[in-house]
Amino acid sequence: MQQIKEARRLRALLKAQSGAGKSIGFVPTMGNLHEGHLSLVRRARALTDFVVVSIFVNPLQFDRQDDLDAYPRTLEADARLLERAGVGLLYAPDPDDFYPDEADRLTRIDVPVVTERLEGAARPGHFSGVATVVARLFNLVQPDIAVFGEKDYQQLRMIEKMVVDLGMPVTIMSEPTVREADGLAMSSRNSRLSEAEREKAPRLYEVLKKVAEVVRLGGRDFRKIESKGAELLRSGGFRVDYLEICRATDLQPATGRDTELIVLAAVWLGNTRLIDNLRV
Ligand code: PAF
Repeated sequence: MQQIKEARRLRALLKAQSGAGKSIGFVPTMGNLHEGHLSLVRRARALTDFVVVSIFVNPLQFDRQDDLDAYPRTLEADARLLERAGVGLLYAPDPDDFYPDEADRLTRIDVPVVTERLEGAARPGHFSGVATVVARLFNLVQPDIAVFGEKDYQQLRMIEKMVVDLGMPVTIMSEPTVREADGLAMSSRNSRLSEAEREKAPRLYEVLKKVAEVVRLGGRDFRKIESKGAELLRSGGFRVDYLEICRATDLQPATGRDTELIVLAAVWLGNTRLIDNLRV
């Protein structure tokens, strides 16, 4: 596996790969890799000839400086995992060199509707930061296929829409959320949970399953089901940002006429924010 920092070298290496007729798979990450990321790498490897992974903790998508500062940075351990997973190239740019201009002078991408609620409402600027970095990475890597996790469901939907709206020549694939044995969705943020918080955390998935089951069995008073679900979360020790039953396509609040549904939640345990979702 080659590990590089410079965009110019990245382009030269990838040009050689596609010139030799190889298809390029891409998994963008912010590092601190776990089994969830490795499942994306495996999918990319199964679908393409040469897999690129990026590790870049993107300042544009953080709405709080303390969250950006606390984000775990584990490049050496990540590189070892990726090498073992059969990745061809790790692109890990220097934070100061990645963007060609300062944050407030940079061209930004805004994807409407799908980003307006849920994470978009709770974390102003977050999705514009994600769309902007992913668009830049797509332009640098020029992958045939890029793989994203379903845990960040709203992000996945936003990227699919951006690619369609802007005619980007890349196919977006997704992989199901990878969970710990007790159901907690794998996330880099889990390492910030105290022992007591870690014990409470699986309750988030249990509540999502309960809510999804009520809907699956015909419950259609979605607003009432949501507030019962939020109550269950609060009694499990969480502070609740939201628990919502949405249309899986555009993440607008579901109505009784909608058929493709998803339950999404964001909660806090102490200073750690967790998100999860479940398709009905
Ligand atoms: O999902 C993530 O890890 C990030 O949002 C992404 C897609 C790598 C962009 O920084």
